[in-house]
Amino acid sequence: MMVKGYNLTNIGTPLKVLFTSYLCVVGIGYLMAVTQILFTHGMADGKFGLSVDDIVYSYYGDRSGTLIEHKLNGSMKENAPDEDRFKIIQWVRDGAEESEFKSRGINEIFENNCLACHSAEAEMGLPDFSDFKNIKERSEADTGATFSSLARVSHIHLFGIAFIFFFVGAIFVFAKNVPVWLKGLVIAMPFVSQVMDISAWWLTKFDPVFAWLVIIGGSGMGAAFAFMWFVSVYEMWISKHDDTSVIDEH
Ligand code: HEC
Repeated sequence: MMVKGYNLTNIGTPLKVLFTSYLCVVGIGYLMAVTQILFTHGMADGKFGLSVDDIVYSYYGDRSGTLIEHKLNGSMKENAPDEDRFKIIQWVRDGAEESEFKSRGINEIFENNCLACHSAEAEMGLPDFSDFKNIKERSEADTGATFSSLARVSHIHLFGIAFIFFFVGAIFVFAKNVPVWLKGLVIAMPFVSQVMDISAWWLTKFDPVFAWLVIIGGSGMGAAFAFMWFVSVYEMWISKHDDTSVIDEH
């Protein structure tokens, strides 16, 4: 088959270097993004690796209980005698009223068992429990991501990712050996996946069943990125040079 005009095999070395440099930097950026996801969302359920539970915890929250209760039954278990832990948990379940903080002796339990680490003086960078507000915040059901954080992250992602995929797609447009239907599909996929992914964050905030959509959206984007990346680099540097070149390489 004769192909006329520009394609990735014959665009000439300077453009190849430019395209490849760009692809390398966004490729590293992509790996960093995946690493960050593993460390933040990936750990949400306490286990390493990204799972549906992680996504539910991150966006919907863990509405089965409060952070204080989870910690008192988990990593903070050893820090107070059972009797005192139960008193705190009961107080939290009753609504964590400030008026009952003193009358039920909860303030003393905190002073005796928690402030050693959870105070500004302890300098451990932990939430300061000498400030009631910090206890109250952790005594409310965990409802996941807040609307303001979702709005912030959504708009940053939409702008940033559209920008990246515009250029990755623009390079891949010049691939020589990919049928037009497949090319169109792969170029559109990250944009569609992105909108799906971000809609799914908001939907998951209301119903955990949508967590699956987050995974499908994210995977679609990753697959399209990897495909465009490898095909582009392959055609530029490994594929046979196309003789119908319009740019003289010498
Ligand atoms: C020996 C030091 C120490 C003591 C005493 C201690 N904690 Fe902690 N606490 C930590 C550390 C370290 C973390 C962070 C790691 C983690 O979340 O398990 C933490 C985290 C927490 C968190 C999660 C805070 C957040 O916003 O992520 C809660 C809630 C908590 N502790 C409650 C308590 C309560 C209630 C007590 C008293 C009964 C207590 N802790 C006593 C060291 C301590």
